[in-house]
Amino acid sequence: MFELSEEHTMIRDMARDFARGEIMPGAAERDKTHRFPAEIVAQLGELGFMGMFVDPDYGGAGMDVLAYVIALEEICYADAGVGVIMSVNNSLVCWPLMTFGSHEQKLKYLAPLASGEKLGAYALTEPEAGSDAGAQKTRVFKDGDDYVLDGTKMWITNGPQAETIVTYANLDVAERHRGVCAFIVEHDYAGFAVGKVEEKLGIACSGTSELVYTDMRVPAENMILNEREGFKVAMATLDGGRIGIAAQALGIAQRAFDLAVSYAKERHTFGKPIASKQAIQWMIADMACRIESARLMTHKAAVLKGEGKRASRACSMAKLLASETANFCADKALQIHGGYGYSKEYEVERLFRDARITTLYEGTSEIQRLVIARSYLA
Ligand code: CAA
Repeated sequence: MFELSEEHTMIRDMARDFARGEIMPGAAERDKTHRFPAEIVAQLGELGFMGMFVDPDYGGAGMDVLAYVIALEEICYADAGVGVIMSVNNSLVCWPLMTFGSHEQKLKYLAPLASGEKLGAYALTEPEAGSDAGAQKTRVFKDGDDYVLDGTKMWITNGPQAETIVTYANLDVAERHRGVCAFIVEHDYAGFAVGKVEEKLGIACSGTSELVYTDMRVPAENMILNEREGFKVAMATLDGGRIGIAAQALGIAQRAFDLAVSYAKERHTFGKPIASKQAIQWMIADMACRIESARLMTHKAAVLKGEGKRASRACSMAKLLASETANFCADKALQIHGGYGYSKEYEVERLFRDARITTLYEGTSEIQRLVIARSYLA
């Protein structure tokens, strides 16, 4: 647990080489232009990083969840915007299909997603169903061999680019989560449209948009599990997604830390490097402790989730600790850089903006605390 195995070290090194060689050089430019990194996503697919823990029979790399978080941290160290594209495809789309999908659904949808040929999105959030995910207002009814969906999803990562969308709709809004069903939707179904594309504070190269369903017919065989079992699919999926966001946050935190350390050694004030000042040393020490503890928790949660047990508490703890750490470290790294850190010429400025999303999506810090507290008080 405390040392990576030989296999995990190899995966980390491979991800690190790719991230620092191929992803990092274009990160600042993508942040400016908001360009979706289609060529990098294709390369991630070739490396097996778009379906890391999917069985090779379904086009995946057949690794474990720990390998996934280790690789994802490295990708996010280079560019957290690229990282979230990978995270959503693995955690929020491949995982529920692999865990709950039928053999036919896996053959048709999982294999192209896991190999990186197609991109996935997870559409749960709605204008009135954010933290209260059970308040799903997207309606669904059965009509012959199809289900018909009507509603609007928002804040959907990969929304503008995704070809396969795991989505949720309610048979009876009055029943809240008990009426929710999960479906696999293709982006070229009649009645499917990408709505407003968001301009965001950070992770700019990843696409985020509304998805609008208007009398959209979905074949009945595209339902995941059974009617009214969708909310459990959504929640179990989010447990794993939260480990992915923890890994993303760790990548941002580690990058902020490394930049702070090297800047502290090179920047001189009052005739000495600022690294010699206790004020700076304490910030470095606090950053290091938080990163180490968040990483231990994230790896523990990944191992538990990989064992197939419900791991909600550990996943929420990892996400809470790592995302608060990313914000802490980005803030301290910027402080150590002084005025330069506020300039767009310095990478810490981007890290400060990118870190901010990690305490918001896939459940705010407040929702993570709720999940953790409930697990003790239930
Ligand atoms: N695994 C399996 N089942 C679960 C579960 C889990 N982790 N969590 C809850 N359930 C089940 C419960 O057992 C319960 O089942 P019964 O009806 O049989 O009793 C049912 O689901 C309802 O659970 P709760 O009563 O706990 O539901 P709640 O309404 O109180 O909500 C919540 C719980 C934790 C607050 C949930 O609404 C939640 O997680 N909210 C945050 C939503 C979120 O994270 N959204 C992120 C959007 S996706 C995103 O950001 C992706 C992206 O783009 C990057």
